[in-house]
Amino acid sequence: MNIGIIGGSGFYRFEMEDAQMAQVPLVQRTAYGEVDLFAAEVGENLVYFLPRHGVGHTVPPHGINYRANIMALHELGCSDVIATNAVGSLKLMLHPGDFVIPHDYIDMTRNRDVTFLDDTSDEVVHIDQTQPYNPYLREVLISAGAGMDVQIHPSAVYICTEGPRFETSAEISMFAQWGADVVGMTGIPEVVLANELKMRYASLCVVTNYAAGVTDKVVMDADVQAVMAESIGSLRAIVMALINRIPA
Ligand code: HPA
Repeated sequence: MNIGIIGGSGFYRFEMEDAQMAQVPLVQRTAYGEVDLFAAEVGENLVYFLPRHGVGHTVPPHGINYRANIMALHELGCSDVIATNAVGSLKLMLHPGDFVIPHDYIDMTRNRDVTFLDDTSDEVVHIDQTQPYNPYLREVLISAGAGMDVQIHPSAVYICTEGPRFETSAEISMFAQWGADVVGMTGIPEVVLANELKMRYASLCVVTNYAAGVTDKVVMDADVQAVMAESIGSLRAIVMALINRIPA
C-alpha cells in the first residue's frame, strides 16, 4: 500500500527509528505545482511524507498549495492519507497534549482553492461529506494509540479558520455554540480534496493550547510550539503504529 503522511506544525521530517527504512527526498511535479516529499519503506508499505509547511516551516496556513500536495500524493499512488494537525481546544476537557481524531468539520476558510472540480468538464459534481474523515482509518488510528501513555479523544468536530491570525474570543465562543471542539488553520481543504480523489483521509490532531477566551491565558505561538515539541515523540509512535497496522 502507498500511504501519504502529511506532517503539520512541529513534524517536518519522517525520521522514524526503524532499521529497514531509508528516506529519499523527491520532487513531484503536478498540474498545480511542484511538491517536495520524502519516500520511505516501512515493512511492505511505501510511505510518502509531506511536511505541509515545508521542512523549515516557511509556508503559512493560507499560503499552502493544498491542491498540489493532495494531487502529488494521488499521483504517487497513495490510497490512504494521514494528516497531523496542531489545534486549539474549545473545551476544557480537551487538554493541551491530548490527541484528537476528528469525525467532522466546519469550514470557515475564505480564500483557498477548495476543489479540483472547478476547471473540468461539462458535468457538475457535488461530493458527499456526511463522513469526511474515513471511519476505517480513524479506527486504525484509535487502536494504534491504545496502550500508549497518551489521552486520545476518538471523535471531535474540527473548525478550520483562514489564519494566519488566531481567533478572537467572540469567534471561539460562537464556534463552541455551533458544536466545534477544536480549531485549526490547515485541515481544510485537504480533507475535501482527498475525498474528491477518493483517497481515504484521517487527521491526528495534537491539542497545543486552549483557544482564545477558553481560559484566561492568551494564545501564543511559543506555547503551540512547546506543546508540539513535547508531543512529537508520541505523534511519531502513533503514526508508525498506524502504518504497521495498514495491511500491505
Ligand atoms: N487556533 C487556530 N489554529 C491553531 C490554534 C488555535 O488556537 N492552535 C494551534 N493551531
